Amino acid sequence: MDFYDVIYSRRAIRKYKPDEVSRETLMKILDAANWAPSGMNLQQWEFIVVSGEKKRELGESYGKVAEAYTAGWEEERRKKFIQFARTFGGAPVVIVALTDASNNPSTRKMNLESVSAALENLLLAACAEGLGTCWMTGPLQDEAAIRRILNISQDKEIVALTPVGYPDMVAKPPARLDPELESKVRWMS
Ligand SMILES: Cc1cc2nc3c(=O)[nH]c(=O)nc-3n(C[C@H](O)[C@H](O)[C@H](O)COP(=O)(O)O)c2cc1C
Repeated sequence: MDFYDVIYSRRAIRKYKPDEVSRETLMKILDAANWAPSGMNLQQWEFIVVSGEKKRELGESYGKVAEAYTAGWEEERRKKFIQFARTFGGAPVVIVALTDASNNPSTRKMNLESVSAALENLLLAACAEGLGTCWMTGPLQDEAAIRRILNISQDKEIVALTPVGYPDMVAKPPARLDPELESKVRWMS
């Protein structure tokens, strides 16, 4: 797949086929993540690849978050979202991205930017492999539950997670707010 095709075709996928993703393919996209740039070349990212019972427990936690979050939504839409949350859209795997925790604001910013670069690499590599992903921070609303389920110590910051699996939907590309980049880019000389 051409590099720019990957950029333009990657979408947030919220419905997955149950088909397993091979460890080899998972390693390939994790390796792409590991080749991201990083502040001070600290490569300050870690990934937890979650499946089976642990994934079910994560989904149970996100399901509860989703129940609170969708209170007041129209019933059918609410049911659909809660079902997506409980099962991560049926994805066989969820990858959790961590970085080193820091109380120093500039170090924390550097760490978050490094792991974000790595996670974006992972999302793009997954797309190139025909896999779907969905960058998610919503489940972090019950961060304590994620820490408990995955045994994550306080010296790590949980940054985001993504389901990984073969897409069972075609997502429409959301329009760009500023396709001509008029307000997004300023040229100065
Ligand atoms: C920082 C961040 C947090 C996000 N959190 C969630 C989330 O909790 N749940 C979800 O379904 N999607 C989440 N998304 C996915 C966005 O909704 C999605 O990227 C956006 O709607 C644009 O769609 P696209 O990814 O298909 O271009 C998140 C994306 C980012 C970058």
